[in-house]
Amino acid sequence: MSRFLVLYRSPVTAAEQMDVTPEQAKAGMDLWMGWAQHGVGGRRGHLAEGPPALPLSGRVIDRSPGVRHHPGDVARVAELGVFDVLHSLRAIREFEPDPIPDDAIATILEAGTRAPSPQNSQPWAFIVVRDPATRAQIAEIYRRVWNLVKEPVYGDIDAIEDRSQRRLLQATDRLAAAVDEAPLFIFAMLDRSKLGVMVTPDLQTLLEPSSAYGAVWAAIENMLLAARALEVGAITTNLTRLMDTEVRQILGYPEHVETVSMLALGRPRAPARFGPTTRRPVGEVGHSERWGRPI
Ligand SMILES: Cc1cc2nc3c(=O)[nH]c(=O)nc-3n(C[C@H](O)[C@H](O)[C@H](O)COP(=O)(O)O)c2cc1C
Repeated sequence: MSRFLVLYRSPVTAAEQMDVTPEQAKAGMDLWMGWAQHGVGGRRGHLAEGPPALPLSGRVIDRSPGVRHHPGDVARVAELGVFDVLHSLRAIREFEPDPIPDDAIATILEAGTRAPSPQNSQPWAFIVVRDPATRAQIAEIYRRVWNLVKEPVYGDIDAIEDRSQRRLLQATDRLAAAVDEAPLFIFAMLDRSKLGVMVTPDLQTLLEPSSAYGAVWAAIENMLLAARALEVGAITTNLTRLMDTEVRQILGYPEHVETVSMLALGRPRAPARFGPTTRRPVGEVGHSERWGRPI
């Protein structure tokens, strides 16, 4: 980030280092800086035709006869315990192309709507994108934006010494090359019109950003967990924050709505798989009664 800010002073220098034209570098920087300074969204979008409606059954678990047992099958929800689910919830970045059943999508969205939020404001909204042509359009923007930011922000990712960071960024790079291999995108949005006292009356300025975005993130985490329970893999990516102006025109969301993150979902394609995650231990992050006292 700091390297990017330094480069921002000179699109020409940035362009030299990024192997893009100065205009492209400037466009990428403007996106990044606009986001950093003002947030995304705002006055720039216009309405386009909305996505087709999802036939939501309202069922959370479908145990009706003939229910198939394969990934995305809602009947499998009952088979995993909550701790099994959360301890094996890995970021999945490689996907099989087969579509996710509508019932599974409904179950995932339903889980999102169960999240907590300040004053039960529920300021989230979700746009489900299954249409391959729309996904391809979004993927093209995703690739372009990633290619604009990756070098200035991360440098040469293949030269990163820390092996796990290098592998993570290489996986992120591969994802960006073909994010629409995922058969399903869910855009998780913040709807400022639902925020009450947490936003100015003109809906332009968030007075409590952490609460507003936090609520949407609670919904996102619920959706990730539900997807995992259904054996649907997912990655959530905030790169879409930099794409809001362009994506708004494709998805047609109004001015008071902004993308918080995009989930790309699909059945994991080997070698991607669910499994244990690497996290700092509780002993390192937990404190007992006072900061610094071991738990
Ligand atoms: C706010 C947020 C933004 C993220 N953005 C991206 C992203 O842009 N691209 C990506 O590939 N992964 C992204 N991720 C996924 C993280 O890289 C992933 O959660 C982390 O590396 C842990 O991976 P694991 O659960 O497989 O151990 C994001 C996660 C969060 C919570």
